[in-house]
Amino acid sequence: MSKQFDVLVIGGGPGGYVAAIRAAQLGFNVACCESNAYADPKGEPRLGGTCLNVGCIPSKALLHTSHLFEEAGHSFAAQGISVGTPKIDVGKMVGRKDGIVTQLTSGIKGLFKKNKVTQLNGHGAFVGAGKDGGWQVKVGNDVVEAKQVIVATGSKARHLPGIAVDNKIVCDNAGALDIDAVPKKLAIIGAGVIGLEMGSVWRRLGSEVTILEAMPDFLSVADVDVAKEAAKVFAKQGLNIQTGVKIGDVKTSKKGVSIAYTDKTGAAQKLDADRLIVSVGRVPNTDGLNADKVGLQLNERGQINVDGHCRTNLPGVWAVGDVVSGPMLAHKAMEEGVMVAELMAGQAGHCNFDTIPWVIYTSPEIAWVGKTEQQLKADGVAYKVGKIPFAANGRALGMGDPTGFVKMLADAKTDRILGVHIIGANASELISEGVVAMEFGAASEDLARICHAHPTLSEVVHEAALACDKRPLHF
Ligand code: FAD
Ligand code: NAI
Repeated sequence: MSKQFDVLVIGGGPGGYVAAIRAAQLGFNVACCESNAYADPKGEPRLGGTCLNVGCIPSKALLHTSHLFEEAGHSFAAQGISVGTPKIDVGKMVGRKDGIVTQLTSGIKGLFKKNKVTQLNGHGAFVGAGKDGGWQVKVGNDVVEAKQVIVATGSKARHLPGIAVDNKIVCDNAGALDIDAVPKKLAIIGAGVIGLEMGSVWRRLGSEVTILEAMPDFLSVADVDVAKEAAKVFAKQGLNIQTGVKIGDVKTSKKGVSIAYTDKTGAAQKLDADRLIVSVGRVPNTDGLNADKVGLQLNERGQINVDGHCRTNLPGVWAVGDVVSGPMLAHKAMEEGVMVAELMAGQAGHCNFDTIPWVIYTSPEIAWVGKTEQQLKADGVAYKVGKIPFAANGRALGMGDPTGFVKMLADAKTDRILGVHIIGANASELISEGVVAMEFGAASEDLARICHAHPTLSEVVHEAALACDKRPLHF
């Protein structure tokens, strides 16, 4: 007799574990299967997915340590603090990061117990239709039967042909988080989110970092002004970012790598480095899922085809997170997980894809929600701009961190906020105000009329809203 559940979630990342918890809260009998042990010392599958094990959380831990290191070395003196030349113990830094990962991944285990979600260890693969409707899924050596299945199998790093990743000399996101000593020279292929975040970590700790990017424009997903400011600031920090390159032969030895490439003028170049990080995007994970056996449709990019409510083409089968289209972000995966659980329970589950915030945790941080100026131009939307620098803000000056600005875009006719773009200290937290405002359909005047605490960085958001009406008070 196979194990029976109302809901089986395949994959224990942010999309999967959140869907499982919400479904259990709504009264379903839920199981969630996970096959990857990541760095678990006993080799037992760990919950939390890419995000908790080899993504969001460990990268932010390393970013924090390296930020403190840089502050101690370069910013303390200006405030009259002398600490001598700081030294970094990379082993301790990585160990601290591992401790946070262990704490959080076992925390999800605890949340499963609390919410009565059954954790199944093993790879999930569709077998076929269930005996009483629903689906049969093989998990490890068992066959599980569930009325509804949520596929949340996430994504894995895209590798480049001819560049073998050993996660020692040539790393993807997993190896990049476990480098055991500061490389003298670090090469990175791809100036996207991982390239910038991990490049920042190792540059702060003393590496000479070169990032090779194929696209002619830097950070073209961000608002054009933000990308320009970021390029300027990162260059000043010493990140060598080369755009418009074409990667050629990459030779690896035990000591390092040699990368042949052509630069944006077409001239042949060679870059020698001790380590290489390949961060050129991620691909959806449908390995061994047996999607074709049951007729689960994938699109041309290998993602599971879903409608706006994460329904696949198969009745009772849903898919959420990195394995479906849309931004590959943990909070997007979680929102979809909650939406699906609520829809299964007959509730009005909903996910607003227009207000998903983006954050890049460099220094300064970069965050945005909604449309960029270039998108509005392309869409022919008439808009107004309110842009205020952090240099005009007392709190930013007091913190010694006045780089960057807040830029608000509002509809020229209706004043409705269409986008908020921030580069500056704590942008990751400040962006929430823009998200809430847009979620409530706010006009820039609504934010302009709301009292903001003084002195705070949020006053720059307030001033940007006032500036949409050409009436900033402090700039
Ligand atoms: P995943 O987290 O990938 O989880 C899927 C899980 O399913 C995996 O554990 C996998 O082992 C398991 N699985 C796959 N197939 C099967 C199967 N057949 N059976 C059983 N189990 C299976 N996003 C942010 O929002 N903020 C950040 O700061 C951020 N930082 C990142 C930093 C890095 C270095 C990386 C790589 C990613 C980062 N992301 C960040 C992206 C974020 O990690 C992903 O968007 C998020 O993890 C997606 O969640 P998911 O549940 O869809 O998939
Ligand atoms: P990415 O899509 O952000 O960036 C990849 C970059 O590599 C792009 O700029 C692309 O033009 C470039 N590229 C592609 N092929 C190339 C080639 N052959 N040569 C040179 N450059 C090439 O992908 P990344 O950085 O790997 O991150 C994957 C995803 O993980 C992100 O898109 C994001 O969804 C998520 N992530 C989110 C974070 C956050 O929210 N703070 C942090 C890290 C990752």
